[in-house]
Amino acid sequence: MTQAISRGLEGVIAGETQICSVEQGALIYRGYEIHDLARNATFEEVAHLLLVGHKPSPDELEAFKKELAGERALPESVIDFLQSVGKPLHAGTAVPMDVLRTGVSILAHTDADCQDNSPEANLRKAKRLTAKIPTIIGHMQNVYDGVALVAPKTGGDPSLSHAGNLLYLMTGKRPTPSAEHIMDVSLMLYAEHDYNASTFAGRVIAGTLSDLHGAVAGAIAALKGPLHGGANEAAMEMLKEIRADIGPENDRGQIEAWMHQAFADKRKLMGFGHRVYKNGDHRAPILHALGRELARQTGEAYVKLFELGEEVQRIMLTEKKIHPNVDFPCGMTYYTMGIPVPQYTPIFAAARVTGWTAHIMEQHANNRLIRPIAAYTGPALKNWKD
Ligand SMILES: CC(C)(COP(=O)(O)OP(=O)(O)OC[C@H]1O[C@@H](n2cnc3c(N)ncnc32)[C@H](O)[C@@H]1OP(=O)(O)O)[C@@H](O)C(=O)NCCC(=O)NCCS
Repeated sequence: MTQAISRGLEGVIAGETQICSVEQGALIYRGYEIHDLARNATFEEVAHLLLVGHKPSPDELEAFKKELAGERALPESVIDFLQSVGKPLHAGTAVPMDVLRTGVSILAHTDADCQDNSPEANLRKAKRLTAKIPTIIGHMQNVYDGVALVAPKTGGDPSLSHAGNLLYLMTGKRPTPSAEHIMDVSLMLYAEHDYNASTFAGRVIAGTLSDLHGAVAGAIAALKGPLHGGANEAAMEMLKEIRADIGPENDRGQIEAWMHQAFADKRKLMGFGHRVYKNGDHRAPILHALGRELARQTGEAYVKLFELGEEVQRIMLTEKKIHPNVDFPCGMTYYTMGIPVPQYTPIFAAARVTGWTAHIMEQHANNRLIRPIAAYTGPALKNWKD
């Protein structure tokens, strides 16, 4: 074996894609730059761009929104499963990302297109999953909260946007315009990111000509880990831990002492660093600005949380030259919005399902089995009878 090994496939170009370009210079979805999208588009428009392949015309957008809203309700079997999650027997075992993964698997059983990998069937399934995942999250949260499911017959309020309806399903309350807007932007920021770990996992599964629901279930499992999507929850848990250790005031010396201890312990600080962006994540400042403004409107405790986060960022940058990724401001922003921490990564999945399914469709449309090779480092050859 003379070939160089790239651990974690770092720097390896493992395929082509027309969906997204992730580079230090810019993050682009099918030709549109992320700041442009965050300022001027909506999640539904971005979902259409990713899934159908182009920016929708006004008529196409109306039809797409109607289609998504019409697919929000869940089949009885998924509702029954979600209801069972809250039973005491399962207490402590029902991690939301696992519940979501199982929910998607059950959806497969009720989807007439499940075993059809044609482009038409894949697109129908992609839209259905995009529509239904927020309902799984909403109903799951209702069960955790011990309240009646919000709008189980319709999966929400058809007059609400995708982002607004997600918040409505989780709480039973119509969100404020600013909460709806911030959720909408965060879904756009999270929608797609080329060959990230979960998307690549989805493409590997699709590359065996397995089905779209299976590939999405695998992608959800990959997203759950704290080195990937799980970082938005882990980042908020870390800030809560710092707050518990140093008290309510943002004493600079105490924050520095906490950070130096973390460095000495060789601890990975969640929400920092990125495999591709070594000089900063394009998405992080967009969400940070929105979250900080919401914190200002929401109250002093939330402003203090952002100030703590900013101090942590400053120390990471000056001492380690490591920038925050989008998960860091996401944790603080969703916390300010009152969203329960264990739902942060499922919400990431609610956005990324558009990117996943766009990639699964791209893989199926021009397939080649993804099967790298490994350098063997095990024992030398031996005889079984010796
Ligand atoms: C995302 C991540 C896995 C990328 O890792 P990577 O490309 O493999 O980068 P490396 O782990 O090789 O990092 C290079 C150096 O920076 C350090 N580093 C990277 N991220 C760090 C972090 N979050 N906290 C502390 N140190 C970090 C590494 O320890 C390593 O230091 P070393 O050279 O002294 O060993 C990594 O940054 C990480 O674990 N971040 C925390 C989890 C997270 O936020 N994930 C979401 C990503 S969007």
